Amino acid sequence: MYVLGIESSCDETAAAIVTEKKEILSNIIYSQIEEHRLFGGVVPELAARAHLEKIDLVVEKALEDADLEISQIDVVAGTCGPGLIGGLIVGATFSKSISMAMNIPFIAANHIEAHALSIRLTENIDFPYLLLLMSGGHCQSCIVHSANHFEIIGKTLDDSIGEAFDKVAKLLGLGYPGGPAVEKKSAGGDDESFPLPRPLCRKESCDFSFAGLKTAVRIATGKCKTEQDRINLSASFQRAVIDILVYKTEQALGICRGKGIGLSAVVISGGVAANQRIRTELQNICHQHGLRFLAPPANICTDNGAMIAWLGVEKILVNQRSDLRFSPRPRWPLGTHCS
Ligand code: KG4
Ligand code: ZN
Repeated sequence: MYVLGIESSCDETAAAIVTEKKEILSNIIYSQIEEHRLFGGVVPELAARAHLEKIDLVVEKALEDADLEISQIDVVAGTCGPGLIGGLIVGATFSKSISMAMNIPFIAANHIEAHALSIRLTENIDFPYLLLLMSGGHCQSCIVHSANHFEIIGKTLDDSIGEAFDKVAKLLGLGYPGGPAVEKKSAGGDDESFPLPRPLCRKESCDFSFAGLKTAVRIATGKCKTEQDRINLSASFQRAVIDILVYKTEQALGICRGKGIGLSAVVISGGVAANQRIRTELQNICHQHGLRFLAPPANICTDNGAMIAWLGVEKILVNQRSDLRFSPRPRWPLGTHCS
């Protein structure tokens, strides 16, 4: 079965073809970084126009790389939310048009569900697993019971984790996109030099909060006199984030134990999961608990079409498909219906 996945919810126009055997036959990503760099962040109207300009080229290239004709595609999945409405309309309309023209099933893909299940494309892993989803728009921990059942046990009360990285990058003048820039800057920094808060880390809760940490970094920038100070502040911020993630993972594992759930693994996904330091530290914690730790490769953590195509595989395998009248949803919580 050949499944085409199309992603256009934020600043990447992406298309990929995968099979139910976990083969990634192509994975094309056109990043709009250059369009948005000048503005220090994603400009929704520019993003929508760029998606419109590139989407047919990206899909064509995905077919070419996979050495397939459009007539050989069995299912098309397109991101229909959550995300920026302009881009969602472009991707949803394009995917539905392919579905209609080729008379193949259409899957309205929830971008967050795609991040949540992406690990099953790159690894052999059974349900249930504990997921820490960390992206530009979300920060949640949940127990993934099946391709349709996501039990959310914690979420951010204010900013998402990616937003915190992006804002700190801006405060430190590191530019856009912020996450990779903060990671790079932090290398070689003293991560204990700036005392920063770890919000909600004395509470027995899996919820997150990053607004106070971000404000503390803003105040601390006033004490940055040298380049080394900025490197140290960047490292101290990354350290604080890691401490928060470690604490919240411990909390989540406690909840799973309390519920008597035997986890197959702890999984991280979403753009921030590309951060090598975060991966290493969470891996250590999981191994201390005797648990398997898994993260998709970095190019499947950040936005891509392969995870959307894989979501299509998961949904088709449980006999789901979406109506062509499905409207894109800028807000679309995990686990609500795609039909
Ligand atoms: O999942 P994603 O590509 O898009 C959304 O669904 O939002 O996540 C993008 C976020 C951005 O905030 C970006 O700064 C962050 O992921 N990010 C990182 C790294 N790479 C991307 N954050 C920390 N370290 C990284 N290496
Ligand atoms: Zn994403």
